[in-house]
Amino acid sequence: MSPTAGEQALIERFSKTYGHLTRSEIMLGIERAVCGCDYGCTSWTTRQEADDVGKILALGPGVRFLEIGAGSGWPGLYLAKRTGCEAALIDLPLEGLLAARDRAERDGISGAVRIVQADGAALPFPGGDFGGFDAIYHSDVLCCLIEKQAVLDECRRVVSHEGKMVFSVISIAPGLLDADYETAAAGGPTFIESPMDYAEMLTRTGWTITARGDVTAEYTETFRDMFGHEQANIDEFERVHGPEGAAELMARRHRTLEALDQDFLRREIFSAVPAG
Ligand SMILES: C[S@@+](CC[C@H](N)C(=O)[O-])C[C@H]1O[C@@H](n2cnc3c(N)ncnc32)[C@H](O)[C@@H]1O
Repeated sequence: MSPTAGEQALIERFSKTYGHLTRSEIMLGIERAVCGCDYGCTSWTTRQEADDVGKILALGPGVRFLEIGAGSGWPGLYLAKRTGCEAALIDLPLEGLLAARDRAERDGISGAVRIVQADGAALPFPGGDFGGFDAIYHSDVLCCLIEKQAVLDECRRVVSHEGKMVFSVISIAPGLLDADYETAAAGGPTFIESPMDYAEMLTRTGWTITARGDVTAEYTETFRDMFGHEQANIDEFERVHGPEGAAELMARRHRTLEALDQDFLRREIFSAVPAG
């Protein structure tokens, strides 16, 4: 299924963002201070979290690793460089992928990295019966697209028999109704609404959950820190995103803060293996 007009608009926004972020020393400096990385990241994955994910996925030389929605290379390229795994990075926004390609070259890891423009709901790789990936990861990607189940189906199709998947995702806190639900939906990522809990979706798509952790507190802290730095550097923020883009992003940040202040958002990390 091709992306809807709404998804396409978001992909275009991401593409511009990756181009802007990766060219601004000030924004990269903020990212270093807040998340411990400088790839032009758009998820809330910090360096500590990326290191933890690398350990859970047992990344190392010879391990075939796939990152879906890899943006401009965070954290896939970082993990490839740190662990020596063989990485495939896929995403749709071209600017992000070009920045990732340049970064892989600068870091001297191009030989171990494949960067492919592809839809996570239609992966251009053979199924796990033909080898597949030993480790699959996506950071805050399912809340940025509609076809969540299709992505999990595709991950299941391309994972090796002994493989693992880890992902983080932002969702609406359970039990919210009416105005509170709307506040959460408006404050979260564009496609935060999900037809079911991710645990159920994983079961339906042939996965067994091995761990589920709530990292809302860490997300809230990272968000506040990032927002504070952005406000303190508003001139650069506006230069980078343009006046209209900056105003839109700042309005979104305020909505997110409102939702987080009321505990209306959740960020979780799931680990799963192929069922049975
Ligand atoms: C929150 S960003 C995370 C990007 C990057 N991994 C990072 O941590 O900075 C979510 C990513 O999901 C990607 N995405 C959205 N829809 C997608 C799709 N259908 N297939 C693959 N990636 C998609 C977006 O383009 C975006 O780069």
